[in-house]
Amino acid sequence: MPLIAPASLFPTKPHIQIISALATITLIAATPGYATAQQTTDSIAPESSTGNSTPGSRAEVRAKDWMITAANPLAVKAGADILRNGGNAIDAMVTVQTMLGLVEPQSSGIGGGAFLLYYDARSKKLTTLDGRETAPMDATPTLFQDENGEPLDFYDAVVGGRSVGTPGTPALLKAAHENWGQLSWNSLFTPAIETATNGFEVSERLAGLISSDSEKLSRDPVAKSYFFDQDGVPLITGTLLKNPEYTATLRDLATNGTANFYNGTIAKDIVAKVRDAHWNPGVLSLQDMANYRVKERAPVCVDYREYDVCGMGPPSSGALTVGQILGLLEPYDLAALGPQSPDSWRLIGDASRLAFADRGRYMADSDFLPVPVAGLLDKSYLAERSKLLAGETALEDVSPGAPAFSHAMRLTDDEAIELPSTSHFSIVDIYGNAVSMTTTIENGFGSRLMVGGFMLNNEMTDFSFRTHSDGVPIANALAPGKRPRSSMAPTIAMKDGTPAIVTGSPGGSRIIGYVAQSLIAMIDWDKSPQEAIDMPHLVNRFGTYDIEEGTSAESLEPVLAALGFKTSLRDLNSGIHAIMITDDGLIGGADLRREGIVIGQ
Ligand code: GLY
Repeated sequence: MPLIAPASLFPTKPHIQIISALATITLIAATPGYATAQQTTDSIAPESSTGNSTPGSRAEVRAKDWMITAANPLAVKAGADILRNGGNAIDAMVTVQTMLGLVEPQSSGIGGGAFLLYYDARSKKLTTLDGRETAPMDATPTLFQDENGEPLDFYDAVVGGRSVGTPGTPALLKAAHENWGQLSWNSLFTPAIETATNGFEVSERLAGLISSDSEKLSRDPVAKSYFFDQDGVPLITGTLLKNPEYTATLRDLATNGTANFYNGTIAKDIVAKVRDAHWNPGVLSLQDMANYRVKERAPVCVDYREYDVCGMGPPSSGALTVGQILGLLEPYDLAALGPQSPDSWRLIGDASRLAFADRGRYMADSDFLPVPVAGLLDKSYLAERSKLLAGETALEDVSPGAPAFSHAMRLTDDEAIELPSTSHFSIVDIYGNAVSMTTTIENGFGSRLMVGGFMLNNEMTDFSFRTHSDGVPIANALAPGKRPRSSMAPTIAMKDGTPAIVTGSPGGSRIIGYVAQSLIAMIDWDKSPQEAIDMPHLVNRFGTYDIEEGTSAESLEPVLAALGFKTSLRDLNSGIHAIMITDDGLIGGADLRREGIVIGQ
């Protein structure tokens, strides 16, 4: 599978293609202070918290040589075996992803997309790979609108073939392994093949999610026959579940690489599945599959305290928005204020609102419009915006700013709906390499279409359903071949040129808040990864200040409301999996809101 990369990157790999960014939209002047529509959000959480939702009860894990943390114990154990037997972080990544697609099928898999942040110890280089799903070439910008040009209801768009983009995860695994893998590609599939063949016990979390999604999940007869028993009852906790179709798919990938997935029998099965979903067919074609390319992108980094916090640039909004939040907070002494101070949360909440305002206006696939990446993270731009935080109460009005290089655009604010799902894992190997990977099929169980033993994504619904607002274009509007804007924020914070924190989270657009808050907890408040993950969440995406229900943070609600924030108590289902690399070794944390663990040696 060819990888698309800037000329200076991967210089020794002859199969890599070189592209330049396309700038297909040239629009007119930016409009500072232009009225900002409220970010469209949704109170539905299809992948809700089903694990331990009362954080605070897990001891941190320490190790000397290597460490892995992910959202499912079977995936972590399989990855740990690879690391224990001499594999590196990229080898473990392939095994973890293939296992997650089996045991956590609602969150990620080979029918979806992913972003990888990889630090290579030998070259001392940080690389980001974009394995994001891509809009079919037959997709029109109004794909998610009805005959009157109004946005479809979210689930009318999601369930079926319409929402399926060309999957990117298999291509990403292959490209990463070709460049950095150590063990044989074939051998990395053995753990998931064996588990799919012999069966695994349905976890409490998976059973809960099947049950709560049963109507949508039973529309596709193949998904129904897998996730329900012969009487049509959702599988219960502890059921031994075998997946022979997934075994066959993995055997094909192990033997043939991604050839059949993108150009052969598996591609045909995927395309047929999407087009034959008669109640809501899609437009994915064999040509879309054959044309899929992983893209290497430049890491997006921001200075924060003594760290260089790096992540995934466009089409993800992750690193830019996390970077803006941190950059806006840089002038304020959060360490002195501490996590108990309402002023810390006022600053974090309003920094997030300012960053989300810019996100909604400017961030999308930079191959399709000129995203002002440098302008959005420019120190003087952020310092100027940061002065807005100097008051004592919540900002009354929050609008996008006018970053440098945004002069060529006139855009309006985004209305994409992003619901919490996805998975994140972090790996550090004995050689000093580090993997931070966030991986997704978008909504819980994606499009609900199952083929070859895996779920197909609904990533196209990460595009804005509208293309314009009052005649002004929306950056994240759908276009053929475009990649939908993501919030995924796989992160590696570098200190003195080497990785110090490897982290990330699932959670739709709340990913940004979860990642920013956990970084602040580790960097400013001296928390270990587990302590940072266990802290109650307070997340502001521009609208309400969401406060984690059932935690000590509830006591902050009246205080934040008195400061002028709109507040709401709610389940906040993060899945942060973080590793800190210190002079004394590795320290890891896993999120008790899901079912993950940490293993290290
Ligand atoms: N679908 C989740 C994300 O890409 O942010």
